[in-house]
Amino acid sequence: MRLTVIGTGYLGAVHAACMAEIGHDVLGIDVDARRIKALAEGRAPFFEPGLDEVLARNVASGRLRFTTCLREAAGFSELHFVCVGTPQHGDSPAADLSHVDAVIDGLALHLRQDALVVGKSTVPVGTAERLTARLAAHVPTGIKAEVAWNPEFLRQGLAVHDTLRPDRLVAGVTTARADAVLRAVYAPMLTAGVPYISTDPATAELVKMAANSFLATKISFINAMAEVCDTVGADVVTLADAIGHDPRIGRRFLSAGLGFGGGCLPKDLRAFAARAQELGVDHAVSFLRQVDEINLHQRWRTVTAARDLVGGDLVGHRIAVLGATFKPDSDDVRDSPSLTVAAELHRQGAEVRVHDPQGIENARTALPGPHYEDEVSEACRDADAVLHLTEWSEYRSLDPDALAALVHTPALLDARNSLDTGRWVSAGWNVRALGRPATAPYPDFRKPSVTTPRTWQP
Ligand code: UGA
Repeated sequence: MRLTVIGTGYLGAVHAACMAEIGHDVLGIDVDARRIKALAEGRAPFFEPGLDEVLARNVASGRLRFTTCLREAAGFSELHFVCVGTPQHGDSPAADLSHVDAVIDGLALHLRQDALVVGKSTVPVGTAERLTARLAAHVPTGIKAEVAWNPEFLRQGLAVHDTLRPDRLVAGVTTARADAVLRAVYAPMLTAGVPYISTDPATAELVKMAANSFLATKISFINAMAEVCDTVGADVVTLADAIGHDPRIGRRFLSAGLGFGGGCLPKDLRAFAARAQELGVDHAVSFLRQVDEINLHQRWRTVTAARDLVGGDLVGHRIAVLGATFKPDSDDVRDSPSLTVAAELHRQGAEVRVHDPQGIENARTALPGPHYEDEVSEACRDADAVLHLTEWSEYRSLDPDALAALVHTPALLDARNSLDTGRWVSAGWNVRALGRPATAPYPDFRKPSVTTPRTWQP
């Protein structure tokens, strides 16, 4: 099938490449000429494991091409996937839909044939209905344009895998024709047994919001438990393991620590709550505000723990920050908890040295203040404390003995609860974590030196 993918960010570039990979003839479109140039050369303009190979293979085969011209896209196919960003609005918690609206207006202007426009971006419920009216008002007379919604559930870092082998496909459609087109697009997945849920656009839009809200709620739940654990000297990791054995609860997304960030969960929570307010059902999802608040509070708890680790005052202390991205296997620093913590440590007078395997360039642009180091050893040299903030696998294989010889004081805060802290303690490190008892004598984290506010202004 011929199809276009409009918007080639973390979502669209992967969707375009994977649609070509399963045999479609794909044209990717973006307003960013530099991004399009890289993609047209078969290179991902960001770090996503496995994407370069899929891009290169399909660009070389001619099945995958890229352009900045929306008019070319309108003429290329009758099927258009919309994958542009829906970030948080600059001055409110709601989603900013200006990119989606601009695509619809641009397509409407150039359409010379009937079209099925399939949204994949995460949007507030009711968007497909609104866009249907917007499109109808602008397309030339005689042209029929339909809108469907097909939310995406891929995880950054695993995006190629998740797109080629999704857990489920959800199609929000208003006609049998649109349903048939989407079934044909995803035929290889359907043949492989991937569940396909056909529903109305409003339900499809809500499925995505509900999924991300549920995942965020799970993380904030375990982080709330971590705070209770800190008060009584209990261990949140054991608690998560124990409750996670119950298949009704499950262990996944129950890793306590610094909390969630990125370009999706935080802004989707806020957008969902904002949309619910517009719809007059604010009360139904008011708990999402608390989920957000618990999450942001983890950043403050981490700063407090770091400050306690160096004796109660950060001024003049050298702090090594391991990890800048919002999660491992990504270079994305959007709403990164690690960077928020680094920024606050820097603001409070610490000399912050940040290492990240892939995210340094983006981090330096987003947060110019700290020093950025290409080597873990340089970030840790003469440090008064080492903070483990993003759980890259390479940090798990660090040698605590070798690092102990480099730092000024062997003090570690594992804010992701994912290091083998026993090894660090054996190497003489004073180890702290969030929601776990201290593994070396140290000023008691249960009694933070400063009363912490419940909210955090990122
Ligand atoms: C998330 C969803 O998981 C995807 O299903 C969805 O498609 C995507 O948003 C989206 O809306 O586009 P992603 O943002 O890639 O995917 O990241 P996650 O793997 O969900 O992790 C989000 C954050 O939660 C990270 O900062 C991670 O460190 C944190 N996290 C995750 C925890 O703090 N604890 C956990 O147990 C799991």
